[in-house]
Amino acid sequence: MDFKQQVIDAITAALGDELTQEQITKLIETPKSNDLGDYAFPTFILAKSRHMAPVKIAAELADAIDASQFEKVVATGAYVNFFLAKTTFAKEVLATIAEQGSDYGKQDLGHGNVPIDMSSPNIAKPMSMGHLRSTVIGNSIAKILTKVGYTPIKINHLGDWGTQFGKLIVAYKKWGSEDAVKADPIKNLLEYYVRFHKEAETQPELDDEARAWFKKLEDGDAEATRLWSWFRSESLKEFKRIYDILGVEFDSFNGEAFYNDKMDKVTDELEAKGLLQESRGAEIVDLSKYDLNPALIRKSDGATLYMTRDLAAAIYRHDEYHFTQNLYVVGMEQTEHFKQLKAVLKEMGKDWSDDIHHIPFGLITANGKKLSTRKGNVILLEKVLGEAVDLAKVQIAEKHPDLKNADEVADAVGVGAVVFHDLKNERVDQFDFNLEEVVRFEGETGPYVQYTNARANSILAKTDAKADATVTLDDANAWPVLKQLGAFPDMIARAAKEYEPSVIAKYALKLAKTFNQYYAHTKVLVDDAGLPARLALVQSVSVVLTESLNLLGVKAPKEM
Ligand code: ARG
Repeated sequence: MDFKQQVIDAITAALGDELTQEQITKLIETPKSNDLGDYAFPTFILAKSRHMAPVKIAAELADAIDASQFEKVVATGAYVNFFLAKTTFAKEVLATIAEQGSDYGKQDLGHGNVPIDMSSPNIAKPMSMGHLRSTVIGNSIAKILTKVGYTPIKINHLGDWGTQFGKLIVAYKKWGSEDAVKADPIKNLLEYYVRFHKEAETQPELDDEARAWFKKLEDGDAEATRLWSWFRSESLKEFKRIYDILGVEFDSFNGEAFYNDKMDKVTDELEAKGLLQESRGAEIVDLSKYDLNPALIRKSDGATLYMTRDLAAAIYRHDEYHFTQNLYVVGMEQTEHFKQLKAVLKEMGKDWSDDIHHIPFGLITANGKKLSTRKGNVILLEKVLGEAVDLAKVQIAEKHPDLKNADEVADAVGVGAVVFHDLKNERVDQFDFNLEEVVRFEGETGPYVQYTNARANSILAKTDAKADATVTLDDANAWPVLKQLGAFPDMIARAAKEYEPSVIAKYALKLAKTFNQYYAHTKVLVDDAGLPARLALVQSVSVVLTESLNLLGVKAPKEM
């Protein structure tokens, strides 16, 4: 079912060896309006070799092309426009979707393990908006990559190691209480941490104590380890509550601490390869030939760093998973860090460093200001998700007061709104957070797509007639919908190649809108010869909307 290929083949046959298939494929465009057909081929490229005006070439070419498998092939200006045979197209698309169901769009673009470093919040700190973005973008990329043949491994590289744990231990021992941590772990741990920084301004000896405690932790001291592991598990409990709400699961929670006993090997290797240099007491890898700042490997007190742990993690992932690609869904502000990571690995002679890809995303601001945990300018995720669900409840109670599983649906709609809002814009776009905007249900939103899907389902539920994709759908109004349905596999391929869930989100919005326009103009449930085909169309819309939402990690309730 490759209609674009049909067009390419027809042009190739008519042009002989004037252009290669590849050139033709690149040149083919999709006209802006349906009046201009489904595919267009611009002829400008042939003007020079043929010594002819493109308009004339288009006319000649349109004549030369075998149009028998198309509705028509016409020259318009310098373009040759192809109109697909609509009823054939309709039958093929609808039959394919009916047969494949949620597998529609599955394809083989690659294979192998793909670790996806995602979410990765820091222990004892609230999960930030940035971590939410990483979670939902990573989760969606994992689903999209699965659909095209890869095996993603979702890794939560928790920030559970580093000098801050020395500070936390000191602060807890001085001002903390077990009950307080148990009652509200992240809030209280954060408070201790913030207090530490304040008091250390006037009592610098606190910093020495903290360093000593972190050293103890690195060396496996029992008390340090017990406290650290307790802070970690209490924090993780809170994070997991959010992951449950979002429906996101991980294959691994190996965070930074996991690499504590794997870093000596890295520093030894760096040393043996002559890459370590001393700079003001610290050890670095010089990266000036990459136009990058030096990578900090070891501090003057011997403590390892974020970078050291990422080097160990990359090597571990390579040895453990034999990845074909290794992805990091981390905010744009860490671009330099990942460039350095790749460069150091390259210097170490790891040719697989080219398979490492940083998948950056834009910052979320609130009222134009950067969010900061330290300054208390934070958005609490659970609160946002909770409010979205409450708003969804109100809407559902208005629109559908007798809905049976109303609470479950409200969860799906409220959470879906937040997730979809995050994914619908290109991931590198920065956006300002505004709760009202996030939980809007009309317009370009997740709930709009969900409502459209539920509407399609309710149409199907209203009749005993059966959908039949083999019946001819001869209905001009249906054409835009059919074309959208046919485009789904291409959209998945694009989303996978660009690591860009927004391609799917935008597609879902467009399909929903196109279907709603169709439904506004066409009576679907009329008992005539076309009914089974129209039902097949509605059914296909529901299948594809559901699968689009699924690829975004958003639920698609059947009723709303
Ligand atoms: N914990 C880090 C942060 O919150 C993100 C970790 C990203 N992953 C990595 N392998 N560096 O900024």
